[in-house]
Amino acid sequence: MIQAIKERRSINFFEAGREIPDDKLMELLKIANLSPSSFNLQPWRVIVVRDPERKKVLRQCAFNQPKVEEASTVLIMIADPGGVEENLERVLDSWQKLGYIKSDIRKTYTEMAKNLYESEDSLKRKIFAVKNTALFAMNLMIAAKGLGLETHPMDGFDEECIKKEFHIPDDKIIPMLVAVDYLRSGITLLPRAFRRELSEFVRFEKF
Ligand SMILES: Cc1cc2nc3c(=O)[nH]c(=O)nc-3n(C[C@H](O)[C@H](O)[C@H](O)COP(=O)(O)O)c2cc1C
Repeated sequence: MIQAIKERRSINFFEAGREIPDDKLMELLKIANLSPSSFNLQPWRVIVVRDPERKKVLRQCAFNQPKVEEASTVLIMIADPGGVEENLERVLDSWQKLGYIKSDIRKTYTEMAKNLYESEDSLKRKIFAVKNTALFAMNLMIAAKGLGLETHPMDGFDEECIKKEFHIPDDKIIPMLVAVDYLRSGITLLPRAFRRELSEFVRFEKF
């Protein structure tokens, strides 16, 4: 795992003509789906884009970034502010069934979640959806390394264009795209670019 984190890079060179087998892609998504989330509400959705024509369209929405078309698979990561309403009852059902909670606490938990994440169109709710979807995306990128795949996250795109072209409802948010594929053979990557010293951003006990 540590090796996967150390070796993950944002890849611009994907192997042309090599598809990711369906079972491998599903395994990748299943592993990412183990990500932690606020109240276990899992407010993410994913559109898998593999069709060359659809990737062309996606590339146009992504400021013409070639990797969008060159990677065999591009994932549109979608943060769903409606994840609270959609999943809260199921989460509580599972917690109750597994013995995490007793039925008398359900009402308190429901109120707690609604208070914490506010109304569906609030900024707090959008942040909730985006932060959890970003964790999903990060886990997916690390898991991809473990499966011999490479990735590239992207937020260089016109969100309205992607929503229109891929029929994504207006209330959803697209935190990033993630290109996934095999590294093109014979490629040597440049050394990893700068990272700040810990002393610049780590403080103990106060800001
Ligand atoms: C949320 C996010 C959005 C990004 N958007 C783009 C992008 O649109 N195009 C691009 O070429 N790289 C993009 N990157 C890649 C970053 O430039 C890259 O992660 C950074 O330079 C560090 O390199 P590394 O990922 O290889 O460690 C993005 C990265 C993240 C996490």
